[in-house]
Amino acid sequence: MNGRRLLIRDADVALPNQVCKTNILVQDNRIVAVDAARDQPADEVIEARGLTLLPGVVDDQVHFREPGMTHKEDIESGSIACAAGGVTTFLEMPNTKPPAISAQPLAWKYARGASVSRVNFGFYIGATDSNVDELQAAKHAPGIKIFIGSSTGDLLVDEQDALERIFAETTLPICAHCEDETTVRANRAALGESLTIHDHSRIRDVQAAVIATTRSVDLAQRHQHRFHVLHLSTAAEIPIVQDAGPYVTAEVCPHHLFFSTDDYERLGSLVQMNPSLKSSDDARQLWDALTADKIQVIATDHAPHTLEEKQADYPKSPSGLPAVENSLALLLDRVNQGRCTLSQIASWMSDAPARVWGLVGKGRIEVGYDADLVLVDMQLSKTIHNERQWARCGWSPWAGQTLQGWPVQTIVGGKTVFREESLVEDVRGTAVVCDHARGGYWATPDGIGV
Ligand code: DOR
Repeated sequence: MNGRRLLIRDADVALPNQVCKTNILVQDNRIVAVDAARDQPADEVIEARGLTLLPGVVDDQVHFREPGMTHKEDIESGSIACAAGGVTTFLEMPNTKPPAISAQPLAWKYARGASVSRVNFGFYIGATDSNVDELQAAKHAPGIKIFIGSSTGDLLVDEQDALERIFAETTLPICAHCEDETTVRANRAALGESLTIHDHSRIRDVQAAVIATTRSVDLAQRHQHRFHVLHLSTAAEIPIVQDAGPYVTAEVCPHHLFFSTDDYERLGSLVQMNPSLKSSDDARQLWDALTADKIQVIATDHAPHTLEEKQADYPKSPSGLPAVENSLALLLDRVNQGRCTLSQIASWMSDAPARVWGLVGKGRIEVGYDADLVLVDMQLSKTIHNERQWARCGWSPWAGQTLQGWPVQTIVGGKTVFREESLVEDVRGTAVVCDHARGGYWATPDGIGV
């Protein structure tokens, strides 16, 4: 066998259907054996007894602000935060300045990613009401992002004709930000001018989310177009996405699982995001839906703004919060609490998003898959500190929380990119390859699916 070989020995490994102690052999950037011999000759051996090996996290919703807002984050700093958090692949949103709505800015992002990103990357193309030609031509993007409700930036498509055209005339999978613009504007007008942060969840209310999610799932079903509902925030959306058929998948973010409107008192606009926080009962029901397999994916919607920007009086404060470097630890802590299993985490955070977006070689510890891996220490207890965040904005809404279960070594394409709280400088990720013909999340090994 030629090529550089890495042996990861004696880890508890999250294989697709079980967690078991075994040895993983990597050659160059691929997994070539699970259950390899312990004394297998290798160029590098990682003694991982006592640690758990997971597939690297695939975060399909991040905002890295480059070009245009690099004082908040850029592709390099965002990718370093990913590496620190065990995220080995990110898919980035188009609401940059200029927005990625055509071939040229998209090609620019891919070139930039290849030069600076420490983990693997993909970039969505954004929909407008008049760029169907560009959406058709964007073959390398993992998918199309539609802001059916407006958020940070000025991307918005909420006219029915434009939405019908996008679903009818494009082939890439679509994902959407689902908050109904008309409802949001009416709520805002009704509340007048002296607003507090608590009004954010009254403006972007349950109805706004339900109307837009219902509308977009209907479009997907009628046009038989693969569609992924981003960041569910309400219990009322669960029945809309559950059993919505083979074209529809859904995701939830850590902030909608672990915060609620009760947290405005303590955290103010630090927990202002779109879709807004809802009640603690919504958060509880979203968690229950996730563990009952009614929601497939966890992603962060990592959306950094500086602390100074966030501390402006509402509604001048921008929506969004950073999360890529803490999302895995937040979920590992839940495993330690007995609330979910390592296998569920590997599915929600790695395998499911890779399948939704047809990411070739991603999301599993299996022979033939890419060696994008994360070693975690389930015993390690650490407190989140703003000063220790790698994201450029330098704060976390979870600062002060102590979690048990942390990533300790992140491997991208067979190379260690992050270990013992330090970045390994010379590692770069590569662009994801998408095979949409494979059928998406609901495809079976027999190829049935869409
Ligand atoms: O809160 C949010 N912030 N939600 C989004 O959908 C966009 C994001 C951002 O880009 O700031």
